[in-house]
Formats: sequence, C-alpha cells, structure tokens
Amino acid sequence: MSALSTRRFLQLAGLTAASLVLAACGKKEPAPPAPAPVASAPAPAPAPKVYTVGTDAAYAPFESQNEKGEIVGFDIDVVKAIAAKAGFEVKFVNTPWEGIFNALGQGDRDMVVSAVTITEERKQTMDFSDPYFDAAQLIAVKEGSKVAKFADLKKLKVGVQTGTTGDEAVTKLLGKTSTNIKRFESTPLALKELESGGVDAVVADNGVIVHYVANNPGGKFKTVSDAEFVPEQYGIALKKGNAELLALVNKGLAGIKADGTYDKIYAQYFGAPPAAAAAAPASAASK
Ligand code: ARG
Repeated sequence: MSALSTRRFLQLAGLTAASLVLAACGKKEPAPPAPAPVASAPAPAPAPKVYTVGTDAAYAPFESQNEKGEIVGFDIDVVKAIAAKAGFEVKFVNTPWEGIFNALGQGDRDMVVSAVTITEERKQTMDFSDPYFDAAQLIAVKEGSKVAKFADLKKLKVGVQTGTTGDEAVTKLLGKTSTNIKRFESTPLALKELESGGVDAVVADNGVIVHYVANNPGGKFKTVSDAEFVPEQYGIALKKGNAELLALVNKGLAGIKADGTYDKIYAQYFGAPPAAAAAAPASAASK
C-alpha cells in the first residue's frame, strides 16, 4: 500500500467509525458504553408466565371490543384480577366461538373465558375453574310479540348462536331437524336478524340479552324469562389435565372473591353486588 492510499484508507475507516457512532446515537436507546457488570447485578426475578386467553369478544358485557379494538368486559376484568392475584400474566386473543374449544384442546389457547357455561358434556373434553357467574337463558322478541313463555317458540323461527347452551335449549324444544332454528356465528348477528324480522325470537344468556336490549332502544325489543330454563354457571375453561394452571386460577378466583375485588368488578358491570343481584335476578326485571 502506498503512503497515500494508507492515508486514504485511514480516512475512510475514520469516516466509517464516525458514521457508526452517529447511527448508534440515532437509535432510541444508545448501546451501553460497556458490557453491564453482570456478575454484580442482582439476579432478576423470573418473568411471570404469560398465558394466552381465548375469548369470543362479541358478547357484551362479558367480552367485546371497544372503539380502540381492545378486548374489554366483565370476564376480562375477572381474569385480569385472577392473574394479578395468582401471579401470572395474560394475553387475550379474540377467538371465534365456533373454534374456541378446539383451540384450547390443541394448546393454541391456555384458557378460554367467554361466558362459558359449565356443562357435563363439556366437562368430558375440558376442565373448568370453579364457577364465577350465575346465568340463565332469556328470550328476546319484538315489543308486539305474543310470546309469553319458552314453549310459545315451538312453531316460530328462533335465532341462536351456534353451539351455545341457547342453541341446545332451542334444539330440544323445536327438534334436532327443525328448519326453524336459525344458527348464527355470534349472538349480536342473531339479534340483528330479530330486528330485521328474519327471526321471531332469539334465545341467549340473560346478561347479554338484557345488555343488548338496553343498548338498542331503536330495536324495540322486549325480553321474556321462563323458569323452565335451567340455572347455568360460567367457568374458565382449561385444557383437560392442566392441573397446575387450574389450581392457580382457582386460587386467584378464591382470592379475588375473598378480598372484595370480584364484588367491585361485578358492581361495575351489573350495578349491584352478586348477593343483592341474586335476590332480584335480571330476569325479574325483564317482562
Ligand atoms: N353461556 C353460553 C354457552 O356457554 C353462551 C356463551 C357464548 N359466549 C360467547 N362469548 N359468545 O354456551
């Protein structure tokens, strides 16, 4: 290398080094000047485990998406509180109801919170936390409807969300092969169809029907309750055999019930603590 080209080389090398420094400064977080003294730093606490929670976020007030696309609702707040209490983290993933239990079985979701009714049949293929909410089916019809009880739906067109306990109840009443049962992928879609006159009634969980009717006064709906509907309880669903996580969830749930957090969340969504609400169930206010 000639003297000249060596100088040129050094100049270029200097330039490169300078631009590297500049580039580093341009970054949000400049690289630390020296490697962190790892040995002397206290060992960081192990990061809490993050569990993926599936939810069909079209079921207000239990789970829905707000204007920002965030998943919100009673179930979401309950699971967040359980996680905080039991020391784990959660990430909610909007998951269509129709594939929600498969996603759980395949391990794509660690839990499902979706106003899921604990049933004997479901217990064959998944595990449930202790119950966290009492519910029942409720009928929505248009204001002028003559429907006064569940049996009145026998000859009518009834909308349900596919694969729900509402679907089950209506299938039992109208018969497995009835073409009068209109199945929808979400409960709001079934209620839209009621509004437009495509079905005569919708059967779904009381909390969701009450919430929808209250928030859609233009739809001119009314609700009809019936003692025929069996009491239901919601549970958080887990993959069968996931005993460790199940114990953790139950521990967290017991904790938030004991320390008043659950009641606070309940009151926020349903206006009264569960004990008072049980004395005057939502269905009583529905006719
Ligand atoms: N409780 C009813 C059931 O378990 C309906 C639940 C539907 N939940 C939902 N997020 N779409 O079948």
